[in-house]
Amino acid sequence: KRSTVQQLLSSQELDREVLVKGWVRTRRSNKYVAFIAVNDGSVIHNLQVVADAEKFPEDSLKDVATGASVAVRGTLVASQGKGQTVEIQATEITVLGKADPEEYPLQKKGHSLEFLREIAHLRPRTNTFGAVLRVRHALAFAVHEYFNKNGFYYVHTPIITGSDAEGAGQMFRVTTLAPEHPPRTADGSVDFTEDFFGKATNLTVSGQLEGEIAAMALGKVYTFGPTFRAENSNTARHLAEFWMIEPEMAFYELEDNMDLAEDFLKSLVKYALEHCADDLAFLNEQYDKELLGRLNSVVETDFKRLTYTEAIEILKSAKQKFEFPVDWGTDLQSEHERYLVEKHFKKPVILTNYPKEIKAFYMKLDEDGRTVRAMDVLFPGIGEIIGGSQREEDLTKLTTRMAEMHVPTEDLWWYLDLRKFGTAPHSGFGLGFERLVLFVTGMANIRDVIPFPRFPKNAAF
Ligand code: 4AD
Ligand code: MG
Repeated sequence: KRSTVQQLLSSQELDREVLVKGWVRTRRSNKYVAFIAVNDGSVIHNLQVVADAEKFPEDSLKDVATGASVAVRGTLVASQGKGQTVEIQATEITVLGKADPEEYPLQKKGHSLEFLREIAHLRPRTNTFGAVLRVRHALAFAVHEYFNKNGFYYVHTPIITGSDAEGAGQMFRVTTLAPEHPPRTADGSVDFTEDFFGKATNLTVSGQLEGEIAAMALGKVYTFGPTFRAENSNTARHLAEFWMIEPEMAFYELEDNMDLAEDFLKSLVKYALEHCADDLAFLNEQYDKELLGRLNSVVETDFKRLTYTEAIEILKSAKQKFEFPVDWGTDLQSEHERYLVEKHFKKPVILTNYPKEIKAFYMKLDEDGRTVRAMDVLFPGIGEIIGGSQREEDLTKLTTRMAEMHVPTEDLWWYLDLRKFGTAPHSGFGLGFERLVLFVTGMANIRDVIPFPRFPKNAAF
């Protein structure tokens, strides 16, 4: 029976025969013995395999090279060397798949993250990406666990949609029409009634609106799926394809929404600290010595809550010079968000009640008629990690707002029906999953926390 490296490294049962399979990280040898470091992805650490030269002459190990896959049989013994408690004294080593050292790109020396992005098919075999992918997995699991424990139902919202959930026009079109000769209407525009769905469709930018449908029936729900944005933002915080977690709750007002967002974020970070200790220790050591301290402090401190209007006053009286000037009504840039979080309050911040002009059509209007019940959660090193709001539940106010913002009501008749039949106060938010993984791993670029990043001029894999 085969064991994983993780099982063997945490095993108390020594001096027994074991079988392990994995990939060779390094091999070094002297006259008497060869040491082979084997990793199988189950854990960040390698398992040391000891091959005595008497049994394994140098020549017999020539294919046991970095990158090769191997099966090792032997005895699990206490290790004399430092850095590990157990090792395998090998009795049989089989090379399952060779990796030519002349060709295999991941040799012992460190590689830049930029270079690794070009070999997205091999980078999961590095320590860094192994750690990131395991943390990513743990966080996804923690999301489902949190909601399941707290009475939320997981709903699957569509990927292909006929509407624009954010009304921001940043959608990827989905079509089967021939690009060279699409059918055209009398006025010359492309005739989407001839298309697969009989109308123009696109990849979803958010599952929120369908999430609202489910919340108006099941009470507390969430979606967790891929979302797509054709925004041309070539930054370390944006992807064209990213995963979003969107809870939506009937009978929640903005304050309840903020309480949930704060508790949710803290419990996800706590989960990672408890379940990914080895990977986080590695990332802390390798990339960012303040990572663990920052994660612990987010779990322990209360987030600062203030209104957009109060934040503008703080930013206007800041000594720091900003690239983009701020005044009431302007959207905040990441330099402003990070000033508030990293310099002014030195803790996560929840900003509320933004001017209606810079937020989406579905947000509930405040009594003053100028601001909406929006909330953005801002994190150190990240900026906006969550965007959410209480939703407008009043049919007349909603249709007025949609008309003002030129959001077509005919695509969203079903959304309006929710306000016609048994409307109720409700709220929700969207957490960008990659921004969360970015925060928890301490990586600097969002392209390094998703296996196959999609960004402008890049879809090679
Ligand atoms: O603020 P956003 O646009 O909000 C919505 O889409 C709402 N419909 C969510 C809701 O209320 N259900 O996006 C939510 C979050 C952002 O705070 C950010 O973390 C992430 O999604 N996000 C992106 N992450 C990576 N790349 C991009 N291009 C992103 N755009 C938004
Ligand atoms: Mg936003």
